[in-house]
Amino acid sequence: MFTRKKLIPVVIAAIFAFAGIFYYSCYKKTLDKIAVDQQLSYCHEQVKRTLFQVQNDSCQLPRNINHDAHKWYMVNVYDWTSGFFPGILWYVYENSGDKFIRSKAEQYTACLAPLLHPDHWGDHDLGFQYLCSFGNAYRLTGDEYYKECLLTGAGKLARHYNPKVGTIQSWAHMKKMMGWPHNTIMDNMMNIELLFWAARNGGNPEYAKMAETHARKTMENQFKPDYTNFHVAIYDTINGNLLQCVTNQGCADSSFWARGQAWAIYGFTMVYRETGIKEFLRFAEKITDVYLQRLPEDQVPYWDFEDPKIPDAPKDASAAAIVASALLELSTLEDSRPKTEKYFAAAERMLESLSSDVYLCGNGKPAFLLHSTGNLPGGYEIDASITYADYYYLEALTRYKTKNRK
Ligand code: GLY
Repeated sequence: MFTRKKLIPVVIAAIFAFAGIFYYSCYKKTLDKIAVDQQLSYCHEQVKRTLFQVQNDSCQLPRNINHDAHKWYMVNVYDWTSGFFPGILWYVYENSGDKFIRSKAEQYTACLAPLLHPDHWGDHDLGFQYLCSFGNAYRLTGDEYYKECLLTGAGKLARHYNPKVGTIQSWAHMKKMMGWPHNTIMDNMMNIELLFWAARNGGNPEYAKMAETHARKTMENQFKPDYTNFHVAIYDTINGNLLQCVTNQGCADSSFWARGQAWAIYGFTMVYRETGIKEFLRFAEKITDVYLQRLPEDQVPYWDFEDPKIPDAPKDASAAAIVASALLELSTLEDSRPKTEKYFAAAERMLESLSSDVYLCGNGKPAFLLHSTGNLPGGYEIDASITYADYYYLEALTRYKTKNRK
């Protein structure tokens, strides 16, 4: 017979068991909101289809599949998007452990070697190119060769820094073409991560200062009072002052280009992670909040929030994927629980929408996502599948899985 004394531990054990089951079912529910393992398997299968389609030994890399096409449009290593396909392969390898994919990741990463050549000057996109390819390769293999590549890339990127202005120049050719003395585009907020990385990994410690100054200048000069961004800032190189803000890929100079805001949200979150300066965290929240307030119901923005053709304007799934990944990181950096939950839930809603039939390519094409817009004013990549949308979608799924398993 159970005495009262013997019953107490049994009751306590039962309470713990019930609490465990309750916790597990909540945890599992969160995990199941997006069938993350299923989505990661989907990415794995689509990548195998891509490799089958693009079979070549010539170091051409997939960039996009237009909305009316089924085959990848390929680019060479000098294209700004060249790092994304190797990066996708590394993430698929990370999630699947598939050795064949790893060998392809190594092969396509090796394709970027011409970027290491001392004569290759490059532009601000060096950050995208190096971090997605060599960066993921180093993170997953620890191979010192990749570390050396990243340090080389950071040295090249630092050469585009203008100390008078305090930012990295994005497009040097625009000086001749447009008469812009020094320009910095919002996308550049992504590329400065390479400088922070190098400063922490044996590179010049000054690189971190350059990156921080770049972020501060961008914060001061490249946003409107409502915290929406300007795509391009043009600076005077004599006195370093801001001359003008314009657009290159948005609807109008002062319009709210969705991907620009996405790069900013991701970039300022990263700058807070790297510096620990709260001002950057508060700023990342403000630029996120205005983005969230203006999203359509399905959480995927129109390519420009101010296109007069909305609701008949194209969407930009790439912006949604970039922001989903950024907010999963922001949620882990937040200093209050309600904010952690708010940004995690927002990211989850975006991933849920992107993981629906409306946005997945499925059997139709070998990419992951449909409905991204690269450059509408330029007349290309409109309503297309694009590798950077796929890259950040896969990164977001990986972050989501990791966070939910902690
Ligand atoms: N970095 C170029 C773009 O976002 O289109």
